[in-house]
Amino acid sequence: MSKILVLFAHPALEKSRVNRRLAEAVRGLPDVTFHDLYEEYPEFTIDVKREQAMLLEHDIVVLQHPFFWYSTPAMIKEWFDLVLQHGWAYGSEGTMLHGKQALSVITTGGRETAYHRGGHNQHTMDEFLAPVEQTFLLCGVEYLPPYVVHGTLGMTPAEIETHAETYQRLVEALSTDTLDLEAFRADPSRDWRLDELMTGQEERR
Ligand SMILES: Cc1cc2nc3c(=O)[nH]c(=O)nc-3n(C[C@H](O)[C@H](O)[C@H](O)COP(=O)(O)O)c2cc1C
Repeated sequence: MSKILVLFAHPALEKSRVNRRLAEAVRGLPDVTFHDLYEEYPEFTIDVKREQAMLLEHDIVVLQHPFFWYSTPAMIKEWFDLVLQHGWAYGSEGTMLHGKQALSVITTGGRETAYHRGGHNQHTMDEFLAPVEQTFLLCGVEYLPPYVVHGTLGMTPAEIETHAETYQRLVEALSTDTLDLEAFRADPSRDWRLDELMTGQEERR
């Protein structure tokens, strides 16, 4: 079993359609700690020692947030700046997070087709997320390919429900160690095809 810490960041949850539902889908699952950063720290006064202690108690960190200006909401950046301290998270003595894993779960207004070279946003999600990936890598944390929910603006309630179910299955599978992560790492498409990645399930195409 793996313990999962969901770091949730949405600065206007009252206006949220998608993240609100995704959050409901994982809040309260066994072995999942749901931690709403804007609710905990409305003045951005992050309790660094508390955050570090929470990290040590968990194996996998999930960063769940909407995509804002091709990046994370400001709270996540503040959390990185304050919590991932030299000598604790990185540097020759900073090995406290080694061996853990991190996963971004992100909603975007833009459609998937907009996130390509030559597309509306010029770059892929992997390119935009390079600073997040490298931050975790520097801390000895494996950065799993992100689970991205594109095209939120026109999304129907049924589509939101489908994503909520997938997110719930993904988190459950990560916490029960029932994902074939080796197959996943070897998959050049880096797509979360859960049916094919569950261990003991049908062979992958
Ligand atoms: C300040 C702000 C910046 C945004 N920047 C982007 C962006 O860079 N790319 C994008 O695809 N969508 C962007 N959006 C759209 C949000 O990602 C979208 O509204 C959100 O994912 C919907 O999730 P929610 O229903 O949980 O709020 C932005 C929205 C806001 C309010």
